[in-house]
Amino acid sequence: MRTPVFLVFTLTLAAQQRPSAPAPRGLPDGPGKDAVVRVCGSSCHGPQIISGKGYTPQGWTAVTNAMIARGAKATPEETNDIVEYLAKNLPPRSGTAGAGGVGFIGAGPDDAHVVDVEAAGRGKAIYAAECVSCHGPKGRGVSDGVPPAQRGADIVRSLVVLKDRYGATIGDFMKRGHPMQSGKPSASIVGSELQDLSHFLHQKVTDTLRNGPYSQVINVLTGDAKAGEAYFHGAGGCVKCHDAKGDLAGVGSKYDPPTLQQKFLFPRAFGRGVLGPVKPPKPVLLTVTTQDGKTFKGTLVHLDDFNASLRDSSGEYYSWRRTPALKVTKEDPYAGHNALLDQYTDKNMHDIVAYLEKLK
Ligand code: HEC
Ligand code: HEC
Repeated sequence: MRTPVFLVFTLTLAAQQRPSAPAPRGLPDGPGKDAVVRVCGSSCHGPQIISGKGYTPQGWTAVTNAMIARGAKATPEETNDIVEYLAKNLPPRSGTAGAGGVGFIGAGPDDAHVVDVEAAGRGKAIYAAECVSCHGPKGRGVSDGVPPAQRGADIVRSLVVLKDRYGATIGDFMKRGHPMQSGKPSASIVGSELQDLSHFLHQKVTDTLRNGPYSQVINVLTGDAKAGEAYFHGAGGCVKCHDAKGDLAGVGSKYDPPTLQQKFLFPRAFGRGVLGPVKPPKPVLLTVTTQDGKTFKGTLVHLDDFNASLRDSSGEYYSWRRTPALKVTKEDPYAGHNALLDQYTDKNMHDIVAYLEKLK
């Protein structure tokens, strides 16, 4: 869990004065709004970035946690207030998950990147200035009339991008040194520029997966199904939880190849049918037993070293200060998958898709 790192941040910084940001237009009044404006408006972007979005409580928890992991400073109390405020005032919009341009509703903090459309727009300008000549307008690389050394990789299939969240992996990649059109060192892309570029690249991935004939052939033709099968039964450890003749039987006809790839990379993502009707993701569950022996179960809203909160099946919200007497158990049905995400090589990934695709 990331919490300990951010606690160090918050404990040292909570007492400091934060610069105040102008109140954003269009954010409704209500408890927690101050915290939203203060925390979300003082770090990397203006608080108006939030307007027009809509998520479930888990979605907002994920977005908030991700921003804190990226350096936004909030105390646990503020974090709770922010999530409560956003969940109450900016619930998911009805209709398509694409509304507001977000394709990853329900993603957990360790799950897929949530695309911010405005930031992606700014990232596009950086891409055009520094990357497009080698990686092409679609991010798929260029081949015609370009010397081989300048044929950029297909970024849409790059694990550097697929594993990235909010610039973490792309930032490491840029720090190691990479050509740029301007000749500036790639390590100079940091901070909000890096975030913007990351949002743009993730948007490209989503667009590519959703549109066009490419979506039908992506990856599948490049993987080795036999190697995928070996990985599935061996190093990948997939058989600990899956059975190719059981729960995953027929998975190759259930999803088109890009959806299949997304489903095993981020089983929690695409829960709202961006790519057509797919099963909704299972929520992270929290069980809390209080000192007097009462047990509460529900969907995790927030959990850190200080606070725990959940929403039960009737929609009731509960929150607790954490003490040694309070027993808290978290159950993330996708924990195994999140751990695997850091293990796949590019080859493993394509091989697995090729293998799963054959399970018809
Ligand atoms: C002069 C040509 C050139 C430019 C400009 C360029 N790249 Fe690349 N890029 C390449 C080549 C060649 C590769 C494949 C070899 C490699 O990984 O270094 C590549 C690979 C990549 C990869 C895939 C790495 C992997 O292993 O999966 C990413 C991500 C990437 N580039 C991002 C960018 C971004 C973002 C920019 C702009 C800031 C950029 N590149 C600018 C040529 C370029
Ligand atoms: C620790 C347990 C665990 C491991 C290990 C694991 N998975 Fe999963 N996987 C799950 C769970 C839980 C789900 C969600 C099932 C659901 O939503 O019904 C899932 C979902 C999937 C799905 C989507 C299935 C569907 O019908 O939507 C695919 C595909 C998949 N996993 C492939 C893999 C592959 C390939 C590996 C190995 C590289 C792997 N999994 C390893 C637990 C695991």
